[in-house]
Amino acid sequence: MPNILVTGGAGYIGSHTVHQLLKRGYAVTVLDDLSTGFRDAVAEGHLHICSLFDTEQVRQLLVRQKIDAVIHFASFIAVGESTKEPEKYFTNNVSGSIALFTAMSQAGVDKLVFSSTAAVYGNPVSTPIPETAAIQPVNAYGETKVMVERVLAWLDQLRGLRSVKLRYFNACGANPAGGLSERHVPETHLIPLMLKAVVTGQPMTIFGTDYPTPDGTCIRDYIHVDDLAKAHIVAIEHLLAGGASEAFNVGTGSGCSVREVLAAVEKVTGQPVPHSFGPRREGDPAELVADSTKLRTQLGWTPEFTDLEGIVASAWPSEQLRWA
Ligand code: UFG
Repeated sequence: MPNILVTGGAGYIGSHTVHQLLKRGYAVTVLDDLSTGFRDAVAEGHLHICSLFDTEQVRQLLVRQKIDAVIHFASFIAVGESTKEPEKYFTNNVSGSIALFTAMSQAGVDKLVFSSTAAVYGNPVSTPIPETAAIQPVNAYGETKVMVERVLAWLDQLRGLRSVKLRYFNACGANPAGGLSERHVPETHLIPLMLKAVVTGQPMTIFGTDYPTPDGTCIRDYIHVDDLAKAHIVAIEHLLAGGASEAFNVGTGSGCSVREVLAAVEKVTGQPVPHSFGPRREGDPAELVADSTKLRTQLGWTPEFTDLEGIVASAWPSEQLRWA
């Protein structure tokens, strides 16, 4: 089986993807600096603690482990923080990625799956959003991902580095059977914050009720982390089979409002979600829903989790332990 290097494999989506790669028999090497990831999210013997900026060490690891392809998750992901500390985001997400690509070029590794984001589309003119929609990020985080996508287009042309860019919509849920969970510090994502409110009794805030949506709250495309992980598997298979560079949206294709998420959380937990209503959060588009036809038709990907209650139920056991 091919040898895959996973950067950021101790993080949320990374660890779920590593779990699925191992289940399918791939040989997996995880590279993580543990700045936001967790040592215990990676199965024994796979983790190499190393910075992306240590090009020589990364090159040696690629050669020593005979790596065939890389899945690159390692990056900072908080949109709000990226607007306050843009230098930190451009340095880590852009320069860190270029350092990795340099090591890959030196080691002769020419296949990459890259974690991109729906944030590359900014405020889309219409939804569902196809990959051909205008690229116009409205925050520094989204811009870092656009910049890396552009670097990758040049590296394909100039170095023969083939890449699949996966533009994630709202990752959520967990794989309790794999002992995995979402553990961002601080937590900023909606579903874990609602589950936290249920456990602690401390109210969470709903950001904005005056959006031009049927119930006034923002609509997002919530995609289960295992379905996202599967998108990485089909992307790797595409590259290993000689497939060309592509960008794909990864979402279910249907949107849920914040109020609908609240109802799903209350149904799954059987308890009310303590909450209050606050102003809009800066930079939040009203509606982000993926058109994922390209990923479905070209790579045969289909999401298994299609209802929000199933997604929330998968996260509930680990969130109970986390906030108790
Ligand atoms: N929300 C609240 N209260 C909260 C947190 C979130 O009402 O306490 C709302 C947000 O306003 C938004 C929705 O819940 O409408 C989802 O918010 P999240 O923070 O969970 O997720 P985002 O849609 O902001 O961000 C996600 C990813 C980003 C990615 C972005 C793409 O986490 O990495 O989608 O648009 F950039």
